[in-house]
Amino acid sequence: MSQEEKRITISVIKADIGSLAGHHITHPDTLAAASKVLAEAKRKGLIIDFYVTHVGDDLELIMTHKKGIDSPDIHGLAWDAFKKAAEVAKELGLYAAGQDLLAEAFSGNVRGLGPGVAEMEIIERPSEPVIIFMADKTEPGAFNLPLFRMFADPFNTAGLVIDPRMHEGFTFEIYDVIEGKAVKLNTPEEVYDVLALIGTPSRYVIKRVYRKSDNLIAAVVSTERLNLIAGKYVGKDDPVMIVRAQHGLPAVGEILEPFAFPHLVAGWMRGSHHGPLMPVPQKYAKCTRFDGPPRVIALGFQVKNGRLIGPADLFDDPAFDETRRLAQQIAEYMRRHGPFMPHRLGPEEMEYTTLPQVLEKLKNRFYEAREYEVKVKHTAMLSGEEAHE
Ligand code: F6R
Ligand code: MG
Ligand code: MG
Repeated sequence: MSQEEKRITISVIKADIGSLAGHHITHPDTLAAASKVLAEAKRKGLIIDFYVTHVGDDLELIMTHKKGIDSPDIHGLAWDAFKKAAEVAKELGLYAAGQDLLAEAFSGNVRGLGPGVAEMEIIERPSEPVIIFMADKTEPGAFNLPLFRMFADPFNTAGLVIDPRMHEGFTFEIYDVIEGKAVKLNTPEEVYDVLALIGTPSRYVIKRVYRKSDNLIAAVVSTERLNLIAGKYVGKDDPVMIVRAQHGLPAVGEILEPFAFPHLVAGWMRGSHHGPLMPVPQKYAKCTRFDGPPRVIALGFQVKNGRLIGPADLFDDPAFDETRRLAQQIAEYMRRHGPFMPHRLGPEEMEYTTLPQVLEKLKNRFYEAREYEVKVKHTAMLSGEEAHE
């Protein structure tokens, strides 16, 4: 088989097109409608294979094909699948039906139209294990910490130290999603610079990771920020990520290991709260408590000649029970803060806010704080004098 024949694109495209019982879970009929569109495309040979699933209220399309990334055909197909699913959602009166489909018409690329996209073109290795991570009630920057651990932290990934193929390190491509700029930084030499950026996950988001020795693509994340795209809040940026595993890349277990720590992410309730990211099996990929806590699933596939063999539901394992228990405790602890930061996000990051209205209402009741202090002192003096008399 030539290199060209082994060239395969994996596209994961997701959208919230409406859900059952509020923002809780997709309806099986919407998944069926999307699957029908993709099955037809597979029959016609546009895609090689597909897998349709959900995380909470997000409908996820996993596709393989030969069209490369950003293909108008593939994006158009995903758009059709979402449109058909949204029609069903509307018929059933599902909540927020059509929410993430921001445009009426498709114009060549779903980027900027609402859906989230993670795509990578690969030369398929003789055995090609990939993991698709999909999360609900959080943002793309939620993958910063786990990606750093997978590809740059030797306390997580033993292979960085002991596998000669990984020993040179990895290159991180980081997007500034506010300015629309990107930078590539190399690890281990620039780890502190990487951390200086990605520690602000609402702004600096790891988009791709490459193996430094040969530039092999190892991971890609959806980085669309729906709220910025639309100029107003229309939904969450619930992210997806593709990671390749093994044979000179982190092992599956090294890729899953960072998720054993349920780190705090933004996006819980109304996109305006921090909470722990809970790794769950597919059957628990639905948000309940306070519309959460934020959840992530990991589906493992082998890609063979573009066919998707699997999935393996990787967090469906008691080995993650303690993580889930810890996440519950953190959820409880965070919830006790009610409307206070840092449970609630900072004002610049909140998806919903009444702050401008509250400030407008109180406008005439604000006075100079210094004047107030003088007044208080004066009153105190008076009462002191009174006390003397
Ligand atoms: C949506 C989400 C939810 C909603 C919340 C309020 O993905 O995370 O927490 O933000 O349920 O929804 P609305 O404003 O539609 O009543
Ligand atoms: Mg929703
Ligand atoms: Mg969602």
